Amino acid sequence: MLKIRIPATTANLGPGFDSLGAALNMYATLTFEDCESPLNIYGCDEAYINTDNLIYVSYYKTFEYFGERVKNVKIGIESDIPASRGLGSSAACVVGGVAGALYQMGRELDKKVMLEIATEIEGHPDNVAPAIFGGLTASMQVDRKVFTRLFPVNEAIVFVAFIPSFSLSTSDARRILPKEIKFSEAVFNASRIPLLLKSLEENDGLLLRYAIQDALHQPYRKKLIPGYDEIEKICIENEGYGVYLSGAGPTMMCISDKKTSLADVQHLLGDLSQQWIIKALKIDEEGIQILRS
Ligand code: HSE
Repeated sequence: MLKIRIPATTANLGPGFDSLGAALNMYATLTFEDCESPLNIYGCDEAYINTDNLIYVSYYKTFEYFGERVKNVKIGIESDIPASRGLGSSAACVVGGVAGALYQMGRELDKKVMLEIATEIEGHPDNVAPAIFGGLTASMQVDRKVFTRLFPVNEAIVFVAFIPSFSLSTSDARRILPKEIKFSEAVFNASRIPLLLKSLEENDGLLLRYAIQDALHQPYRKKLIPGYDEIEKICIENEGYGVYLSGAGPTMMCISDKKTSLADVQHLLGDLSQQWIIKALKIDEEGIQILRS
């Protein structure tokens, strides 16, 4: 039996669209074991107990990747990562499915191999890379090859997640993006990314406030998120350094430091049309972990 733990992730971090991502200390725990029937899934909502389950789809595709016959499997799911909220629940499923398949094939759980297969399944590496390696990663895809590097995050940095009661599918949030952008918008983002990484390393709140800004996706996506401007204002007025849309949203992420009182602003959200819960999270440095094999 294989038992693994995979962290939640927050992608883009403002200007780093489809490249930057960070692992957070909120987890999904999955088990994979032999089974007499082709597939047995337990521990999740009835709606996910079928062959369209993303963990199983990724498991299946990993066998196909190696040209091997798919083995029967029993999959156990236990997850604290909310689905379709921009916190990497899909990436956790994909990475878990790939790892489960490698194990069931008797192969090594090599992180580079996992990254390549998981990126192919997910379509972009920004969430899967930190889910595998932990920490803050910047990634790029060149044909089928994926390059990923880790960047340090200051110990004082806290990621305060504002998680709404409504969900948003990544495909809807990608459909709303423009086909083309202006040269000045590309410069806006490109100039911010290295300074954002430095501000996270040095815990520099003022630099971060401006370096976290984005011109490529958030201006379009915020229209899908009622309360976006209000939450941004609440964060900045309560010692938040800066705010961005976590992945494709709808979770809004406020970066702050450990002295912040942001986790206590719940009472300020009462007038918003949607319900939001606040969770203060830290970077997970481990990435996928094998708990038992
Ligand atoms: N980079 C992706 C996006 C993250 O913003 O669409 C969601 O998978």
